[in-house]
Amino acid sequence: MATNVNAEALKELPVPEHHAAGKQTVDPYNVSGEVGEDGVVKAIDYSKLVEEFGTKKIDQALLERFECVTGKKPHRFLRRGIVFSHRDFELILDRYERGEPFFLYTGRGPSSDSVHVGHTIPFEFTKWLQDTFDVPLVIMLTDDEKYLFSEKRTIEEVQGYCSSNAKDIIAIGFDPAKTFIFSDFEFVGGAFYRNIVRLSKHITLNQARAIFGFNDSTNIGRIHFGSIQGATSWASSFPHIFGTDEKKTAAIPALIPCAIDQDPYFRMTRDVSARIHYAKPSLIHAKFLDALQGPGTKMSASIDESAIFMKDTPNQIKNKINKYAFSGGKVSVEEHREKGGDTSVDVSFQYLRFFLEDDDELERIRVAYEKGELLTGELKAICIKELQTYVAAFQERRAKVEDKVVDLFMERRPLQWVGNPNAARV
Ligand code: TYM
Ligand code: TRP
Repeated sequence: MATNVNAEALKELPVPEHHAAGKQTVDPYNVSGEVGEDGVVKAIDYSKLVEEFGTKKIDQALLERFECVTGKKPHRFLRRGIVFSHRDFELILDRYERGEPFFLYTGRGPSSDSVHVGHTIPFEFTKWLQDTFDVPLVIMLTDDEKYLFSEKRTIEEVQGYCSSNAKDIIAIGFDPAKTFIFSDFEFVGGAFYRNIVRLSKHITLNQARAIFGFNDSTNIGRIHFGSIQGATSWASSFPHIFGTDEKKTAAIPALIPCAIDQDPYFRMTRDVSARIHYAKPSLIHAKFLDALQGPGTKMSASIDESAIFMKDTPNQIKNKINKYAFSGGKVSVEEHREKGGDTSVDVSFQYLRFFLEDDDELERIRVAYEKGELLTGELKAICIKELQTYVAAFQERRAKVEDKVVDLFMERRPLQWVGNPNAARV
C-alpha cells in the first residue's frame, strides 16, 4: 500500500536527478523512506538526515535553555522529539533574552483547496511560537511554485486555492495584529523583488542542481523558484513591517518553523545571507506526519486516501482510519494478546503522539498496546475520537473566517508586537 501511494505521488512530481531508486529521499519535492529488499518502504531515518543536512538535534540542554529564557514548558512537539532539529535556534533565544528583534516565517504551497492534518503541524507550532515570543509572523503562499511544479494545474486554479488555504491557516488561530499572509503572485514587486533578484544573482545553476537535483529538462521557472522562497527570509522584503532602513533590517533574522523537507531552500539562503552580510535565517524542523499507509511516506494533499483533511467529516475520519491506517497489531486477537502490538510502526499510535496532549495518558496507551491489553480496534477508536475532536474544533473556527478577515491578514500594513517584555532593552 505504502509503495502505491509513493508511486502515484511521484508521477505528478518531478523526479530529481539524484533521486536514486530505493534510497531514502527527503527534499521539497519527494519524501520517501528507504525501500527494503522486501519492497516495503521503511520509516524515515531522521538521524541520518540531521547528519546529511548538517543540522543539529534539539537536545535536552536546548530545551532547558528554552524554558529558562521563555518561562514556558516546551510544546508537546518539542517534548516528544517531533520538532527535532534546528539551525541556530540558540541564537534566536539569545536575541529574545536581550530583547533584540527577529521574526517568524513559514509558508504553504496551495496545491488543493484544503490542508491536511500534516500541514497543521508546522502551523500549530508556529502559532505557539508566536504566542511565546510575541513577534511578527509572515506566511508565504507559494501559488507560483504550485503552478511551476505541476504538469496540470493552471494559474487560475492555484490562485483560487490561496484564499481557502489562507482561511485554513487563519483558523489555526494567528493574531491578525502580528501576522501578514501573502501570495507570491500578488506580493512580488518592490523591495521583495529586489531581494529575490539579489538572492538569484548569488546562486549558480550548478549549486541549484546540487541542492535540488534539477536536470537539463527542468523548466527555468523551477530552477529560479528557490530565490523566491529564500528571499522571504530577509526582513528587508517587508518594508511595511520593518521599515526601510537597510542597516536595521539587514540585522533582523527570521526563525523558520517547517518540516525538514523545506530545509534545502534555506541552506541555500543561509549561504548567500552570509556572503552579502544579511542575517542568516534560523530554522526549527518538524518530522512528518506519516501517510495513513504507514511510516516512510508523507501525507499528500493530492491523494485523498493518504491523508485526513481538515474538511473531512467525522464519518470520513472514522472510515479512513479504520480502512487505511497501517496497524502495528498482530493478525489474530490471540497472537496480539500474547505478543502485543508494535507502536513504532502503528499509524494510529503515531497520530496520538502528535495530537494527544496528555503525556501520562499517551504512555498508558503505549504500554497497554505493547502488552497486548489494548487491541488495534480499540487503539483506532481512541485515535478516531482524538482526530474528530481536533478537526471539529478547527472547523468551528474555520467557519467564522469571513472573506474580509482574509483581506485583513493579507493587507500590507504595519504590525504590532512587544517581544520579550522582561528584556533589558538597549
Ligand atoms: P507545503 O504546502 O508542501 O507544506 C506546508 C508546511 O507543512 C509541512 N508539511 C508537513 N509537516 C508534517 N507532516 C506532513 N505530512 C507534512 N506535509 C507538509 C511542510 O514542510 C511545510 O512546512 N514550498 C512550501 C511553502 C513554503 C514554506 C516556506 C514552508 C514557502 N516558504 C517557509 C515552510 C517555510 C510548500 O510547498 O509547503
Ligand atoms: N507534497 C508536496 C506538495 O505538493 C510536494 C511538492 C511538490 C513540493 N513541489 C514542491 C514541496 C515544492 C515543496 C516545494 O505539497
